[in-house]
Amino acid sequence: ASVRTIRSLVESPRLGEDATVNGWVRSVRRMKKVAFADIGDGTSADTLAVVLTPEQSKQLSTGACVQLSGKLSESPGNQKFELQVAEPVPGKPDPVKVLGPADQSYPLQKKFHTAEYLRTIPSFRWKTLGNSSVLRYRSYAQSRIARYFESAGFTQVSSPIITSSDCEGAGEVFTINSGEPDKNQKQPYFFGDKPAYLSVSSQLHLEVYAAALSRVWNMAPAFRAEKSDTNRHLSEFWMVEAELAFTESLKDVMTVAEQMIRAAVPDSAMAIDIIQSNKQSSSTKQETLKQRWQMLSQPKPWARVTYTEAVELLRKEFPSLKWGDSLSSEQEKHLAAHIIQGPVFVTDYPMHQKPFYMKKNAVSDETKATVACFDLLVPEMGELIGGSLREDDHQTLLSAMNDNNMNPDDLEWYLDLRKYGSFPHGGYGMGFERLVCFVCGVENIREAIGFPRWAGSCVC
Ligand code: 4AD
Ligand code: MG
Repeated sequence: ASVRTIRSLVESPRLGEDATVNGWVRSVRRMKKVAFADIGDGTSADTLAVVLTPEQSKQLSTGACVQLSGKLSESPGNQKFELQVAEPVPGKPDPVKVLGPADQSYPLQKKFHTAEYLRTIPSFRWKTLGNSSVLRYRSYAQSRIARYFESAGFTQVSSPIITSSDCEGAGEVFTINSGEPDKNQKQPYFFGDKPAYLSVSSQLHLEVYAAALSRVWNMAPAFRAEKSDTNRHLSEFWMVEAELAFTESLKDVMTVAEQMIRAAVPDSAMAIDIIQSNKQSSSTKQETLKQRWQMLSQPKPWARVTYTEAVELLRKEFPSLKWGDSLSSEQEKHLAAHIIQGPVFVTDYPMHQKPFYMKKNAVSDETKATVACFDLLVPEMGELIGGSLREDDHQTLLSAMNDNNMNPDDLEWYLDLRKYGSFPHGGYGMGFERLVCFVCGVENIREAIGFPRWAGSCVC
C-alpha cells in the first residue's frame, strides 16, 4: 500500500485503493461493534476519519503517533472518504502500528482550549486545526511574496542580525554589547568599543545592497524591546523589507507594497484551508475573512490620502485631533474601517514624528515640515507597513541626524552612500505576523508566530 499524506488524499482520494497513513490521533470513539478515530498529520486542514474494530482501537489514544493501513472508501458521514483499517493477518505487519504512544496526561485532549492555555504548551499548540493553518499560510505567503519579488526584478539579500546601528532610533533596541568590557565577566563576548544591538530593521543595510543591486528585498527577524502589551506587538517578529533604487516617487514604492500584498492573498486551495480550520468559529467570522481577501484583491488601486487629509477626515469622530498629533491605533483603525472602508496609504507625515532617514518634502511653512513617507493601514489591524523615500542629500541627512541628537560618526558608512554616487531611493517594511493576523483572522499576534516572545515571556 502506498504511504499517503492527508493532503494528497484530499486532493485525489483514489477510493478503493489500499493506503498507509501516518499521523497523530486527535480523538477515538468506541462503540460495541465498531470504533472511529480522527487522524491528523498537519499537511491539510482536513483530518482523516478512520474505521476500525473496538479491539484495534484499544491501541489508540489521543495524541499518539500511529501508522494505519487499510482501504480508502466512500464515507457515509460528512467526510468525503474514510480509511477502513484492515484486519490483522498473522505473520503480516499489523495494520495498526503505534509509533509513539501518549497516555491520558497528554495536554491537548479533544475539547476547546483557549489561546492562553495553548501558549503554555508550546510543544503541542501547533497541532490544533486553527493554529496549523496559520503555519501553512505563513509558508504560502512567504513563497508567494518571494515569487512576486522575483517577477518584479528584485534580488533577495541577507542582512545582519547583529548590528551597531539603531535604524529606527526609537530606543527599543536590545543591546548585546554595551561598548565596555564587562568587569564581572557576565558578558562572555565583546564586539569592541562600539555598542552592538539586535537588528530592529534591515533597512540601512538594504540601502547598501540597493546601491549595488538596484532592487532588493529580504525577510528577516526584527527585535524590539517593546514595553507595550498589545495584540499587535512582539519582541521578535519577521519583517519583509524592500528597497528600490532610482525612484523619486513614493507612488512607485506604494505600488510595489500593494502588489506584494495582493500576491499573498490566499488562492482557492489556501482559502479553503483557512476557512476549514475556522469551521468552529462563527459564520460571521468566515464571511469577514472572505470579505477581507476580496477587499485586498479588488482591481481598483488602494486609497491614498495625506496625513493632513487624514486628520481632516478624522476630526468628525475625534474633534480634539490636530495637525502634528500622532494618529492613535484607534484612529488608524477608524480611518481604514469606517471612513475609507478598505486598505489606505496615509502619506506625508509631520517630520518630527518620523525617523531621521526619511526624505524631507519641500514645504513653504517650516513649522509644517513633512516627509515623503507612508503607513499602510488596514481595517481592524491598523498599521501593516511603514515606508518612505530616503534622504539622499548628504547635508540634509546630516542636519536631520543632528536634529535627532545622533552622532554622524556612528553612521559614517551609511552617510557615505550619499557622498559617493548618491541615488534616489525608497523602500518599506511589513510586519509579516501582522499580515498573517489580518489574512487568517488571528486575534492576537502571539498566535501568528511559532514561538512568540513579548515583554515578560520567552517560554522556550
Ligand atoms: O514602521 P516600522 O518601525 O518601519 C521600519 O522599521 C522601517 N525601517 C522599515 C523600512 O522602511 N524598511 O516597522 C515596519 C513594520 C510595521 O509597519 C509593523 O507592521 C511591523 O513592522 N512592526 C511590528 N510587528 C510586530 N511587532 C512589533 N513590535 C512591530 N514593530 C513594527
Ligand atoms: Mg511604523
